[in-house]
Amino acid sequence: MFPAMEIIQDLKVMPHWADTQRRTGRTIALVPTMGFFHSGHLSLMNHGREMADRVVVSLFVNPLQFGAGEDFEKYPRDFGRDRQLAEEAGVDILFTPRHQDLYPEDYQTYVSVERVTNGLCGVSRPVHFRGVATVVCKLFQLVKPHKAIFGLKDYQQVVTIKQMVRDLNMDLEVIGSPTVREADGLAMSSRNVYLSSEDRMAALSLSQSLSAAQKRCREGERGAGSILAEVIRILTRHPGNRIDYAKIVHPHTLKELETINPRGILALAVRVGKTRLIDNCLLEVD
Ligand code: PAJ
Repeated sequence: MFPAMEIIQDLKVMPHWADTQRRTGRTIALVPTMGFFHSGHLSLMNHGREMADRVVVSLFVNPLQFGAGEDFEKYPRDFGRDRQLAEEAGVDILFTPRHQDLYPEDYQTYVSVERVTNGLCGVSRPVHFRGVATVVCKLFQLVKPHKAIFGLKDYQQVVTIKQMVRDLNMDLEVIGSPTVREADGLAMSSRNVYLSSEDRMAALSLSQSLSAAQKRCREGERGAGSILAEVIRILTRHPGNRIDYAKIVHPHTLKELETINPRGILALAVRVGKTRLIDNCLLEVD
């Protein structure tokens, strides 16, 4: 069986535990999450176990990263199930801070990463990355990890956190972990539970358009415009899909590319019915 997982809620106990691990020479990996675990989250936990002596998973639905009218209230939650899945994944600590402790009434400090958050999801979600960077910065202070693991499914989030870590001289390594997909290609997401069966079919067009783009690129196409035209054609075959953006950007700066030379990230955000889904892939010309 698995060694017992400990649940820590207290903001003084968490750094104290981390100090003890560090003093005894053990390395800590942190996997920040908002819960409602699926195989994507579990693969980050496994990744963490491979690269550090101790794995901490934080579970906190962070209100700061949801804009007005977004799904903070109805974001799916199932603590009993999450606790069991984390324990089975061999997690050492499930860190579940309380809202009133992370953001007491007089809270007034925010982390705002600039250029890399301006485009893509930053356009339709203007407060999102400020909320993400702020909570992740606080989690880093409390958990004191040597490594922090994030999913490449949220590509702009990984770039934003890496930028914050560099800019603020934080002493840890940020690792991007590959996207886990359903058998038919749909990227796993806690928000997939919102999809009706009809939406679920239409949602497949995201991964299908990524595969088509990768094929075009492998065949030697370098023009972003031509690849995007095909992506848009595939996405709009379903009348219920509304494209928020479909862009090919530089992997580090996230600036839009006209030509892929030699790498670009194809990033998509599409409203499928009422659910906004994102996905991305690397495009690489030999
Ligand atoms: P959440 O959406 O719960 O995701 C937690 C982590 O799981 C993120 O790093 C995300 O990129 C990763 N993830 C989600 N779907 C994945 C998939 N299909 N394959 C691999 N990894 C996947 O992202 C957040 O929470 C929050 O913004 C957070 C970083 C916790 C800050 O509040």
